[in-house]
Amino acid sequence: MKKSLDEHAERFSEHAADYDESQDSDAYRACVDFVVEHAAPDADDVVLDIGTGTGAIALALAPDAGEVLGRDISEGMLDEAREKAAEGGVENVAFGEGRFRDPNVDGPVDVVTSNFAMHHLGDDEKRDAIDALAALEPRRIVLGDVMLFGDDTAAPFYDPAVDDPATVGLLADAFTDAGYALTAVEMVTEQAGVLVAERSV
Ligand SMILES: C[S@@+](CC[C@H](N)C(=O)[O-])C[C@H]1O[C@@H](n2cnc3c(N)ncnc32)[C@H](O)[C@@H]1O
Repeated sequence: MKKSLDEHAERFSEHAADYDESQDSDAYRACVDFVVEHAAPDADDVVLDIGTGTGAIALALAPDAGEVLGRDISEGMLDEAREKAAEGGVENVAFGEGRFRDPNVDGPVDVVTSNFAMHHLGDDEKRDAIDALAALEPRRIVLGDVMLFGDDTAAPFYDPAVDDPATVGLLADAFTDAGYALTAVEMVTEQAGVLVAERSV
């Protein structure tokens, strides 16, 4: 059975201290690099990084952005992110509670990023999440994640007990329905990749 939001938050908080060290897969690293490269914020842009975890994307984008808002459901992960920001003297990042379907953001957002987080949601929830992010009217949404490009015979790279990756087709439809056009697709493996969606309306 898939886990609830609270169960996901608790699970990540328990492992927050070891999270960075445990992210040693080539697919994860490639997705981080593609998300950062495609986000490409301008110097005065506000970036929302949702499912920010320990801040891998948020902290990488901070030097190029005006402000970065890192949002997550796990206080343990957010604490790690805050510690890293303080250690690195990064002052234009604010980490706080927020979830895909309620990102907890007041002002305008120019670019939304998310890496390896949306696959915790069911498919209908992913559609709702993409709608909620689109409602912030960013010009670009960059989604790196476990996602299925087609070959469902390969051994799962993810954990089916807690992860629920969507097909790329479903995600593409959800972005299109929300008024965004896919402008780049990076297939990292058959089960992981990065989608770049730009506002089309
Ligand atoms: C695998 S980590 C990825 C963290 C980071 N983005 C990275 O690339 O290292 C997934 C993160 O998504 C968060 N998360 C899971 N469901 C979420 C939701 N509905 N809203 C916001 N964050 C969520 C978890 O708490 C966790 O910190």
